[in-house]
Amino acid sequence: MSSPTAGPAIEVAGLRKSYRSKAGEQLVLDGVDLVVPAGTVTALLGPNGAGKTTAVGVLTTLLAADAGTVRVAGHDVARDPDAVRASIGVTGQITAVDELLTGAENLRLMAELNHLGRVAGRRRTAELLERFDLAEAGAKPVATYSGGMKRKLDLAMTLVGSPSVVFLDEPTTGLDPRSRRTLWDEVRALVAGGTTILLTTQYLEEADQLADSVAVLHAGRIVAEGTPAELKAVHDAGSLDDVFLALTEPPTHDDTDTTKETVR
Ligand SMILES: Nc1ncnc2c1ncn2[C@@H]1O[C@H](COP(=O)(O)OP(=O)(O)OP(=O)(O)O)[C@@H](O)[C@H]1O
Ligand SMILES: [Mg+2]
Repeated sequence: MSSPTAGPAIEVAGLRKSYRSKAGEQLVLDGVDLVVPAGTVTALLGPNGAGKTTAVGVLTTLLAADAGTVRVAGHDVARDPDAVRASIGVTGQITAVDELLTGAENLRLMAELNHLGRVAGRRRTAELLERFDLAEAGAKPVATYSGGMKRKLDLAMTLVGSPSVVFLDEPTTGLDPRSRRTLWDEVRALVAGGTTILLTTQYLEEADQLADSVAVLHAGRIVAEGTPAELKAVHDAGSLDDVFLALTEPPTHDDTDTTKETVR
């Protein structure tokens, strides 16, 4: 956990975001408030389509907010996006690895983008390949990797620049139980070293295991926030799954369609 004097690594207030298309406007984030203390892990939960990836997009400067303020690593994402980008690492829901390059080449490319210099870049590449059990695979094209290996490489790429704040959008989707645990250990090690992590996940056991704080996004807002133990206690639930289900019930309709389904 962070020391009480450390300022928050992520501060979100009144964040609003809509998508506009020919079909009209869709309000996705309707006043999101979130504070993540430095050196902690927060898990952002929510049903499919709740807006988790959208929120991560705004926090990582990839998307512009419609309203509200967002500060990451002490910098305003709208006013100082370059400073934010220099402080963060992002692992997207869809991997960003180049399939035609080898694992090592992908990492060296990231090192170059992070202005590490040739020697430091090679050293960092070797270090990260080792850390993620990819030392042998590093010389092979990523196209030959399994899904789990690609995910690990993706995370390794996120860490090349030693970011102080790391965003992981569903980092363990598709990982086998052992690889998932390896990644959990990695997250814990990063946090022990002072890194701040915001992750999204659909695996609530993962949130339970890893997160200092859990925030549930539903219908455009954070509808609950607390430690996994607090949320379970408040909702008198045995698991975060039960908390999630209680908090994110789909809107009920007055038409008879739903009744029909239960009768069938
Ligand atoms: N580029 C876009 N243009 C238009 N609508 C979008 C765009 N990206 C997302 N949306 C819509 O915004 C809503 C939120 O999507 P988002 O991807 O942020 O959800 P999510 O919580 O990450 O979902 P999941 O759990 O499935 O990853 C969805 O209804 C989605 O269809
Ligand atoms: Mg998503």
